[in-house]
Amino acid sequence: MRLRFLGHSGMQLVAAGTEVVIDPYISGHPNTPVTLDELAPDLVVITHAHGDHWGDTEAIAGASGATVVSSAEIAGYAADRGLKSHAMNIGGAHTFGACRVKFTPAWHSSSFPDGSYGGMPMGVILELAGQRIYHAGDTALFEDMKLIGRGGLDLALLPIGDNYTMGPEDALAAVELLQPKRVVPMHYDTFDLLSQDAVAFASAVRSRTSAECEVLRPGETIDL
Ligand code: NI
Ligand code: MN
Repeated sequence: MRLRFLGHSGMQLVAAGTEVVIDPYISGHPNTPVTLDELAPDLVVITHAHGDHWGDTEAIAGASGATVVSSAEIAGYAADRGLKSHAMNIGGAHTFGACRVKFTPAWHSSSFPDGSYGGMPMGVILELAGQRIYHAGDTALFEDMKLIGRGGLDLALLPIGDNYTMGPEDALAAVELLQPKRVVPMHYDTFDLLSQDAVAFASAVRSRTSAECEVLRPGETIDL
């Protein structure tokens, strides 16, 4: 599987002839090199309705015919805009072809840029091509992350930007609860307010946990 960091909390996963995009915030991003025409997902998975996560969903899913997979409220919002959508909610799992999607709790909020209610914010566990990946969405640290790690995680994508989400210290505690094999930090440096030393975070993860940690610049990829 190839994972491409799209910038902010945006991720593209490609494996087994399936492309999944999570929280694509591209055109509003100040410095990602990714362009919308590089994305042709089968699924667009959205953790919550904030503009930096809903992002370019309408353009991307409209162009590729992808199914928007999210909370009932976000799926309904997508359907109202003529997009294919599939409504789920926290704790539920569903399999879409080669990809299993299960939503988890997240401690945050969720409303669209136009003020529409976005339901509860969520994180998501994706299983694709034998890999189990947790994208935390925007969240505070919470002890039930222990339950999310149960069964093993090949990769945890964790916000470290602070202010709106966990900062580096709480994200490090999240790694201790989740016990993933690898960690990639996200949701930092996009704006001045979210400025963080991701390299220092990565060395703290390596020295204090058994996880590997990779810092990706927007547009960079890793193979899983
Ligand atoms: Ni948010
Ligand atoms: Mn956010």
